[in-house]
Amino acid sequence: MEPYAFEPELARAVTLPASWYRDPEAHRLDLRRIFGGTWQFVGHTDQLAKPGDYLTTIIGEEDVLVVQGEDGRLWAFSNVCRHRAGAVAQGCGNRRKFQCQYHGWLYDLEGKLLKAPEFEGVKDFDPAACRQPAFRVETWGAWAFVNLAPEGPSLAEWLGSIPSETAPRGLERMRPYKAHDFHVACNWKVYVDNYLEGYHIPIAHPGLFGQIDYKGYRTETARWHSQQFAPIKGASPLYERGLAEGQAPEALYYWVFPNLMLNIYPDHVQVNVILPDGPEACTTRFLWFYPDPEKPGLEAQWQENFEFSREVQDEDILLCETVQKHLRSAHYTQGRFSPQRENGVHHFHGLVAEYLR
Ligand code: FES
Ligand SMILES: [Fe+2]
Repeated sequence: MEPYAFEPELARAVTLPASWYRDPEAHRLDLRRIFGGTWQFVGHTDQLAKPGDYLTTIIGEEDVLVVQGEDGRLWAFSNVCRHRAGAVAQGCGNRRKFQCQYHGWLYDLEGKLLKAPEFEGVKDFDPAACRQPAFRVETWGAWAFVNLAPEGPSLAEWLGSIPSETAPRGLERMRPYKAHDFHVACNWKVYVDNYLEGYHIPIAHPGLFGQIDYKGYRTETARWHSQQFAPIKGASPLYERGLAEGQAPEALYYWVFPNLMLNIYPDHVQVNVILPDGPEACTTRFLWFYPDPEKPGLEAQWQENFEFSREVQDEDILLCETVQKHLRSAHYTQGRFSPQRENGVHHFHGLVAEYLR
């Protein structure tokens, strides 16, 4: 790995080395240390509402199973079978027991081995002591998070001021409505860098630029998250629908290290999760949550929101994929930051350097 000394003073700092965005070695470290050591959004508790409800997900290099146990508690454990690494569960659904797809070892909802067929007589193996390694799982409102690291900050510490600042928006009432994946040919950090600054809005997003007060746009950073403030100018249904009387239209944009974005509008929430697919590929998963998904006319309203997000997203994808190709240039290694506009990116690079150290 190319060395990188993070400079805390924004006006002197340089960006992460280009090789950190493309080398397989750097990518493995991202997966192990960053994705393997941070709180990761895994889903909505509607998907885990009763005993046996489960979902599977990939976090870094781990295949993870999240399930509501017989005791009503959420459990997260490795989905890699103790026998020869088959999958204990696939997809999502409801089960009272998990049967490995390979040779049929049977596990209970807490990851304990119940049965290993035709295993009598195996020496130095105690089936009663065999269980899947468990991970930390916690919830914020109706959202579930998993952390593969056995120790470290709790989810509440990790989120800092976000739950109290967003409490008036009633996020815990929001139910899942739609999901859409965009596949982007760039390193996950290129996409996050791009999300964390409004510096490119005047040039790259003319539609969005027309809706916000760019002069008033600012970013504030905290320990593990940052927030972008975009005051709204003029009339826009996206920001005004659902506003209480006398409330000023404002969108709240939070980013939580490393890969979670919460775009909070007056009447709905749009979550983005950025999933690394390889050194030079990622999936950006868009999830929409509304308080009442059954509401008549919601589909048309969502369609309108989606069209707008899609326009901005297409513009961002083009930027990110161009940057990714250019990070292979022999004539570019690192850049500098605008002190007025890129403090959020600088903050992110500090966290990356901290976790990869
Ligand atoms: S790998 Fe799971 S039963 Fe063999
Ligand atoms: Fe953008």
